[in-house]
Amino acid sequence: VVPRSEKPLLRALGGEALACPPVWLMRQAGRYLPEYRAVRAHVGGFLDLCNAPALAAEVTLQPVRRFGFDAAILFSDILVVPQALGQPLEFLEGEGPKLDPITNTAGLARLSIDGLEDRLSPVYETVRRVKAELPDGVALIGFSGAPWTLACYMAEGGGSKDFAAVKRWAYADPAGFGALVDLLTEAVIGHLSRQIVAGAEAVQLFDSWAGVLAEEAFTRYVTVPARRIAEALHARHPGVPLIGFPRGAGLMIASYADNTGVDALALDTTVPLGWAARTLTVPLQGNLDPVCLLAGGEALRNGVRAIRRAYAGRAAVFNLGHGVLPRTPPEHVAELVRVLREEIA
Ligand code: CP3
Repeated sequence: VVPRSEKPLLRALGGEALACPPVWLMRQAGRYLPEYRAVRAHVGGFLDLCNAPALAAEVTLQPVRRFGFDAAILFSDILVVPQALGQPLEFLEGEGPKLDPITNTAGLARLSIDGLEDRLSPVYETVRRVKAELPDGVALIGFSGAPWTLACYMAEGGGSKDFAAVKRWAYADPAGFGALVDLLTEAVIGHLSRQIVAGAEAVQLFDSWAGVLAEEAFTRYVTVPARRIAEALHARHPGVPLIGFPRGAGLMIASYADNTGVDALALDTTVPLGWAARTLTVPLQGNLDPVCLLAGGEALRNGVRAIRRAYAGRAAVFNLGHGVLPRTPPEHVAELVRVLREEIA
């Protein structure tokens, strides 16, 4: 058995520059894999799969077995947290998530953090089961949505083009919206902490909609909660790395890196890697365009090699800049891993 500290992912997240960066992909489990669709066909819906630990553990491990990734990421969803706080959630086939929107302070009365971790216990059971079956040398990553991104889905009731409901609440009633963000910050700390206790060896904070905020709001709703989460986790679980993913943060990724205390930064596809490697001191993760993986061929091979060159001599983890797209051919993923690990002269 490879000791924890020798798992390539944990060495890279701990600041070590490896000859070849370890690799995992956001949304590496999912509809692009026939073996996932087969399991999914046995259960009613996506949330039923998230709440069935044996099946969720199986789909977590499928891509690790097929492609030989260096990490497994827990199969669950960021929206199980709002649901466990008391907000009804559904996933409609082909439409994405639907929540009953909460757009003002009065709506906060519908939420309760008491017993949150009991309601999320199937998630921790999945973590325990995956941990017990993890292949040698493979690390287990837990995750949560960040408070701002969770608040976006909670106020918009699903996806959004302009984020008018959540921003309007934040701007018009900073105290009331701040109470939601504080509640979510506490929920995220508890949720990540329980995943770590159950066996997660690193955790990622997904702030998928960080990029829609101007500077002051970005600091208040993205950076400050991430700092509180990092401080609490480091105090409770020293040595367990936290990867921050402030997607679309643009220039503000530098202040996010400096002011949150996250141990590593996941970069979206738009972040120039040369700049990031020179400017950011923490280990980096990313950032191949998911569409490059979908396209395959020379574009894929060149994209993988360019990222590997940019990371040469630096602590880094290979990943996409966002999740694997559902139409991605699995052979392209195998090709990505093969090209990444090929000897370079
Ligand atoms: O990365 C992984 O493989 C682990 C599992 C995982 C899922 N969602 C499974 C999933 C993780 C880490 C997430 C995170 C997540 N979920 C985010 C943050 C990352 C990002 O994409 O920005 C967000 C915003 C969500 C919310 C969410 N879940 C949406 C908007 C959707 C619908 C879009 C879609 O692709 O259908 C989901 C559904 C979802 N989450 C699926 C999977 C495998 C597809 C469900 C199915 O099987 O039909």
